[in-house]
Amino acid sequence: MVDAFILGIETSCDETAAAVVRSGEQVLSNVVFSQIATHQPYGGVVPELASREHLRAMVPVVRKALADAGQTYPSVDAIAVTQGPGLAGALLVGISYAKALAFALDKPLIAVNHLEGHIHAVLLEERRKGNHELRFPVLALVVSGGHTHLYLAKREGNCWSYQNIGHTRDDAAGEAFDKVAKLLALGYPGGPIVDKLSTYGNANAVKFPPSQLKHRDRNERNMSPSNGGPRFDFSYSGIKTAVLRYVETHALQQSIAERRAALSAMPQPKVEDCLSHCDKTTLDLVASFQRAMVEDLAAKTLAAARAYDVATLFVTGGVAANQELRQKFEQDAANEGVAVYFPSRPLSTDNAAMIAAAAYPKFLSRDFASMDFSAEAGMALK
Ligand code: KG4
Ligand code: ZN
Repeated sequence: MVDAFILGIETSCDETAAAVVRSGEQVLSNVVFSQIATHQPYGGVVPELASREHLRAMVPVVRKALADAGQTYPSVDAIAVTQGPGLAGALLVGISYAKALAFALDKPLIAVNHLEGHIHAVLLEERRKGNHELRFPVLALVVSGGHTHLYLAKREGNCWSYQNIGHTRDDAAGEAFDKVAKLLALGYPGGPIVDKLSTYGNANAVKFPPSQLKHRDRNERNMSPSNGGPRFDFSYSGIKTAVLRYVETHALQQSIAERRAALSAMPQPKVEDCLSHCDKTTLDLVASFQRAMVEDLAAKTLAAARAYDVATLFVTGGVAANQELRQKFEQDAANEGVAVYFPSRPLSTDNAAMIAAAAYPKFLSRDFASMDFSAEAGMALK
C-alpha cells in the first residue's frame, strides 16, 4: 500500500469543508463550516451568498484541517477538490483555491465528483472499521438535498466506474424534506428536524397513495436501451403537493403562521421549540410524510437490488443520516440477504473527508487534473 496524505476540499453547496485523510482510510481531520445560519432566513441556499461565505471561510477551514491533522502545507502529498455537481459559483471558490495551493506547493491536483465522494464515504467508514472485504456487485443509493441516484459501482484495480440505473425525475428526496419543512414553518434544513419530530407523531395517520410518489410515465422505467437494463426512477414533487393539499383541507394555515411568527422571533430555534409549537395533526402529518418517503426509497432500491442481483448496498448522502431510513434499510436488506452499509452521520452529510478518500485511488493511478479544468455544475458520474 502506498502511504499518502491527501488534503480534500469541498465547496459544492453550503458547507465549506477541508479534511486530511491518510491512504483512503484514516481520517486525520474533518472540518466542516456550515453556512446554515446565513441561509436560514431565506429557507434555502442562496447561491451568491454561498460563494461569498466560501471565500470567507476557505483559508481558516484549510488551516484548521491541517493543524488538526498535525500536517503542514508542504507535508501533504496531494490536493483533492470537488469539481461538480453543485452550485457553479460555490465550486469555483474551492477549485480556484485548490489550484493556487497545488501550483504554489508543486503538488498533484485531483478533481473529484461530489457523488463519487458520497459513495467513498461508505468505503472510508468500512475501512476505518477494519472491513476490507467488499462483495460486488455494489448498488449505491446517493440521497441528498440535490440528488437521488442509484448507481451500480464496479472496481477494476484502482479504477472505479459507475452505471446510473435510477434518478429522480423531479425533486430530490432531501429537497422534499426541506420543502415540506418550509411549508410547515419547521425551519431549515428540513431533514434533521423532520427526522426528530417524526418520533412524536403517528406515521400511519395520513396515507399518501403510492401513485403520488410515482412518475406519470411509469412504463418508461422498465427498459432503457442505453444501458440494457431496468431503471428505477424516483419522483418526489407529488408528495410535496399532497402535503400542501392536506394543509389546506385540514385548515392548518393559521397554526403554521403562528409557528412561523414564534420561531422567527428566536435566534436559533431548537427541536424542543419547534415541538412545543406543533399540534398533534402536524406531528402526525410530519411522521406520515417521512414514513412515505422512507418506504418509497427503500422499496425502489431493494427492487433494483433484486433486479441486478447485487450483494451489497450503500446508502449515502445527507438523507442517509435519517434514523427511520437506516432502520428500514437494515430490516429490508436483512430480509433480502444483502449487506447494507451507511457512513457515520458526520460522513453522511457534505464533508471533505469523502473527497480525499475518493481521490486516493486516483492518486494511486496518477489520474491528476490539469491546471485548466473548471467547475461542472451538472457533472454526471460514470
Ligand atoms: O449531502 P448533503 O449534506 O448535501 C447535498 O449534497 O445535497 O445533504 C443535505 C440534505 C438536505 O436536504 C437535508 O435536509 C437532508 O440532506 N438531511 C436529512 C437529514 N439530515 C440531512 N434528511 C432526512 N433526515 C435527516 N436526518
Ligand atoms: Zn452532498
